[in-house]
Amino acid sequence: MGAAVSDANVQRGEGLQSAEANVQRGEGLQSAEANVQRGDGPQSAEENILQGDRLQSANANVLRGCSPAEVLAASIYRDTAAEVSLGAIRGNAAAVRAALPAGVRLMAVVKADGYGHGGAVSARMAEEGGAELLATAYLEEALGLRAAGIRLPILVLTPIRPEDAALAAEHDLMLTVAGADWLRQMQECRPWRLRQASDGGLPLKIHIKADTGLGRLGIRSKAEWDELAPLLRGGGVVVDGFYTHFATAGLEDVTYLLRQHARFMEMKEWVRESGIEVGSWHCAGSAAALRFPWLAMDMVRIGAALYGFGPKRAVDSLQLRPAMKLRSRLLQTKLLRKGEVIGYDNSYEADEDQWIGTVPIGYADGWTQSFRGSEMLVEGRRVPIVGKICMDQLMVRLPGPCPPGAEAVLIGSQGDECVSCADLAAYLGTVPQEVTTGLSGRIKRIYTE
Ligand SMILES: Cc1ncc(COP(=O)(O)O)c(C=O)c1O
Repeated sequence: MGAAVSDANVQRGEGLQSAEANVQRGEGLQSAEANVQRGDGPQSAEENILQGDRLQSANANVLRGCSPAEVLAASIYRDTAAEVSLGAIRGNAAAVRAALPAGVRLMAVVKADGYGHGGAVSARMAEEGGAELLATAYLEEALGLRAAGIRLPILVLTPIRPEDAALAAEHDLMLTVAGADWLRQMQECRPWRLRQASDGGLPLKIHIKADTGLGRLGIRSKAEWDELAPLLRGGGVVVDGFYTHFATAGLEDVTYLLRQHARFMEMKEWVRESGIEVGSWHCAGSAAALRFPWLAMDMVRIGAALYGFGPKRAVDSLQLRPAMKLRSRLLQTKLLRKGEVIGYDNSYEADEDQWIGTVPIGYADGWTQSFRGSEMLVEGRRVPIVGKICMDQLMVRLPGPCPPGAEAVLIGSQGDECVSCADLAAYLGTVPQEVTTGLSGRIKRIYTE
């Protein structure tokens, strides 16, 4: 997903990216169509990736120094766009890097299209900020990064289908193994056998996932480890890592976190006793790594903090910056008289005369019904969403008359006010990354330095 101007296109590895490139350059759709009609093969896909790179910097260059209004105008056909700061992602990675104990490696988690900010772009910025490895949730995402020319080691966090392991190995991806069955099936399946037979069997790099208490994925017991360990001794796989994930790293009460950590240490002992060599041990995501640097072990897996999210104290002390701003404009404004109703199902009734503005964003953009009642900024003031949110528009209650065309900021600052992803997340009862990952591909991502 993600309509990142260059990123999504590069990830698709299709000729279409040049369509958007052309549109961005203002060259019109004709040459875009010509590109599509050429039916780009792998070779031109590479050219396109390069072109994507150039476009990205062109985009950044074009937008550097632009006023917010000009940046918004660059979203072409619609006044609603997410502005992503490359500098913020790069700077956040560098700030985390600097805070890590010496020798700890930084793995940037860029799954879910870089938490909604653009996967390849986030990966590149994280690398520039000092990340040495990347992680995605799914194989498609990792292959997308490879197609975009990204060469850093990539760990796929969710177990993939065993029959796709050969493909992953071909692209030098590291895979998560959450149990003996998967490895057994993988070693028996045809693509893997063919690969082993044909190239002498370059090993598949794996990270073993341990479930120490999140209850999601991984081996839980000594018996499961004893079943898995012998399969690791035969050739074909290298245990590049062993990891777990915490359930409560963001909570004040650290009892459960410490319990999970103690269990992980116990598992480490099982592995030591079995004589299996493990490349790196890792357990900490943003909250754990930033709150408790002693949990960093050999490597940390940082997602949220790259985009400026995390425990407030850590965000403040590292001066992490939010990477996304979401803007729109009022399409229309109207005076609603006391007793008049607006919205589907007459969902809002004016309790007094009041001004209403219509904003072109709706649930098809990911601004779901749950945002009803939350606030955005218009003319530097907080204004609430009133009535049911429609597919493509929503209505806000304005403090007074206001011209159509006025800027509306849904995420970010305007004047002295700010609506952060953390504010919205608190309203929705979730985490900030659910807000940014929830934005659909219909919202254009525009990259600024
Ligand atoms: C296994 C795993 N590691 C690391 C991360 C990154 O966590 P965070 O975004 O809190 O840094 C995630 C994110 O959900 C994850 O699932």
